[in-house]
Amino acid sequence: MSDHPFVAFNVLTVPEPMRETLEERFAKRAGEVEKMDGFEHFELLRPVAGTDKYLVYTRWKSKDHFDAWVNSMQFGKGHAQASQDGREGGPAASGSEVWSFEAIQTADAAGVNRTADAVGVTDAAGDDA
Ligand code: HEM
Repeated sequence: MSDHPFVAFNVLTVPEPMRETLEERFAKRAGEVEKMDGFEHFELLRPVAGTDKYLVYTRWKSKDHFDAWVNSMQFGKGHAQASQDGREGGPAASGSEVWSFEAIQTADAAGVNRTADAVGVTDAAGDDA
């Protein structure tokens, strides 16, 4: 097994009219992933330039920890809105693919707590309100 942290992106194709729906679903997400053993970080990345894909960034102590989450009840609960049939508005994403990586170098600014910084950054309206 690799000693490197494991990073998996879910790459979501989201038609323009569904962006707000997607962001609202994430704003109401279950918050199960952060309870998982080996979980380190999550970010929902809204595209600004260079791509129109949304990226869901997740970082784990190892690939085994990630795999355990994907096969867990918590993964299902964390995707309740994404997987509901007949939910209002239909699926927000028209496509999805997973990219995975080993983190072979990492740096953080001293004292930066990325998790605290990222909490609540789910501003579906796209303004600073
Ligand atoms: C067809 C595939 C997928 C689609 C369409 C999708 C879409 C979504 C949506 C709409 C949400 C908002 C919450 C909810 O649905 O209730 C969500 C949550 C999330 N997704 Fe996905 N997702 C998929 C697969 C994945 C994969 C493979 C990963 C990891 C690389 C991932 C990472 C996450 C995370 C971390 C959350 C938050 C879960 C929590 O709060 O516990 N997703 N996803």
